[in-house]
Amino acid sequence: MGMLDGKVTIITGGGSGQGAEEARMFAAEGASTVVVVDLEGTGGEKVAAELGDVGLFFALDVTDAEGWRRLADTMVRTYGRVDVLVNNAGIWLAKGVLETSPEEFRRVVEVNQTGVFLGMWAVAPLMRDAGRGSIVNISSNAGLRGGGMPHAYAASKWAVRGMSRAAAWELAPLGVRVNAVCPGFIATPMIQGGQKTLDHLASISRSGRLGSPEEVARLVTFLASDQSSYISGAEIAIDDAYTS
Ligand SMILES: NC(=O)c1ccc[n+]([C@@H]2O[C@H](COP(=O)([O-])OP(=O)(O)OC[C@H]3O[C@@H](n4cnc5c(N)ncnc54)[C@H](O)[C@@H]3O)[C@@H](O)[C@H]2O)c1
Repeated sequence: MGMLDGKVTIITGGGSGQGAEEARMFAAEGASTVVVVDLEGTGGEKVAAELGDVGLFFALDVTDAEGWRRLADTMVRTYGRVDVLVNNAGIWLAKGVLETSPEEFRRVVEVNQTGVFLGMWAVAPLMRDAGRGSIVNISSNAGLRGGGMPHAYAASKWAVRGMSRAAAWELAPLGVRVNAVCPGFIATPMIQGGQKTLDHLASISRSGRLGSPEEVARLVTFLASDQSSYISGAEIAIDDAYTS
């Protein structure tokens, strides 16, 4: 028996890195549907195809409210419900407050924060109507500390924690759980700068290595599943004690 047997699931940013690994793990754990949401041409089609009958690619910019509405309508018409939503899509900007332009700040917040809001805004009503659901929002260790973290990215990831807690409180009486996951340094395409950067990040990690997308996917799968049925409003760091 799989951890997600029969679940109808959506993962944003599912075409790369952690999202792609979560899509594969959801399918392997028995999800009946894994909707891989991503921008066109970013690998989402390929990941969905790998999953066979269970996988479906849905092209969507997470900042597009109308697109989210279309996705929610499609889910209701085709499957009647959504059991799991993972708001994972995100972008990185390695700039401090002195270098960040207003446009750059707004763009990072638009994708990393507003995108998470729009996902919950579109899908939580379906979960409310079904009386159940699990939402996992991907924050970051940049949402747990200030020092050493880029400005707009940190702002957006701290916000994801606040939004997750507020939504968890609001939706708990309706049977819907909301949790935030705060990964540390995870080896994905988001980490730019090649081997030099990877080696540097490994060297400042407590156990001398980066985390893998699979390690994050295991935590997300647990939070998505009914095995975490009394966990809501939690923020779980998966960062090798970096923020401890
Ligand atoms: N890699 C790390 O070290 C790390 C650490 C902490 C948190 N995170 C967070 O984990 C999540 C996954 O990142 P990753 O490491 O897998 O990076 P990644 O760059 O491999 O994947 C990010 C995905 O998001 C998609 N995306 C970006 N903007 C989008 C938009 N507007 N609409 C739809 N999709 C969009 C990208 O196309 C990509 O597929 C992100 O929220 C990121 O901020 C990453």
